[in-house]
Amino acid sequence: MTVSVRVMRHDPLPEGDEKFREVERMFDRVAPDYDRMNRLISLGLDRGWRRHTVGELGLGTGARVLDLACGTGDLCDELASFEHVPVGIDYSAGMLASAHTRAPLVRGDAAQLPFRDHAFDGVICGFALRNFVELTRVFGEIARVLRPGGRFVALDAAVPTNPLLRAGNAIWFRGAVPLLGRLLARDGDAYSYLPRSTAYLPPAAVLADALEEAGFVETRHHTLTGGSVLVVSGTRA
Ligand SMILES: C[S@@+](CC[C@H](N)C(=O)[O-])C[C@H]1O[C@@H](n2cnc3c(N)ncnc32)[C@H](O)[C@@H]1O
Repeated sequence: MTVSVRVMRHDPLPEGDEKFREVERMFDRVAPDYDRMNRLISLGLDRGWRRHTVGELGLGTGARVLDLACGTGDLCDELASFEHVPVGIDYSAGMLASAHTRAPLVRGDAAQLPFRDHAFDGVICGFALRNFVELTRVFGEIARVLRPGGRFVALDAAVPTNPLLRAGNAIWFRGAVPLLGRLLARDGDAYSYLPRSTAYLPPAAVLADALEEAGFVETRHHTLTGGSVLVVSGTRA
């Protein structure tokens, strides 16, 4: 327990290869409790956020959509409910083993996608941007596998700018969530890392610029639920 507290409070966030391996190990570990904890942490709001994010793709029936870093497949299921054709990819064997979706799932790295150029009409990514080691490489891969005119939408955690909401967000995510993680998922480290990892995410405007550099146009961003969630999107030129 002492070690957990030390790691939670003081260790700097990992970078490079260390981050790649630690994030994979962490998701392998939390996978069996992931869905239950997700509902709890988001107070059940994540379903609405996912629906909103799929809607932002603006794609029609039968669109082939890659769920990047799909985890247990919640976004795949949401895509299917919009009559899109989802394919999921994730590098955590544990998350894929705990997946509940009927969509085809592939194990692989977001920075080296095992798909041909222009294979998809859309790419969607939920709560994973901050976990990638090299965002620009991942954006390059997303641009490569999208057809011209294809859509990319990402959903991720954010920190509200309103001071009151920011304080509430900090109490919940930095106080209650690690405690719940320790009690319910027996993994306080992981549920302390998850809120801390929002620090990896560049500001929305920087993300939009990076998307434009990767070959996207009409980039947009907005927040939901008082700024606690960010939605970023772009269209493949
Ligand atoms: C917070 S979970 C999100 C899962 C799912 N997208 C959702 O909305 O619930 C982050 C996921 O990103 C995956 N991930 C992190 N880095 C990755 C990478 N380089 N390539 C593929 N998946 C990765 C993790 O294994 C984990 O399943």
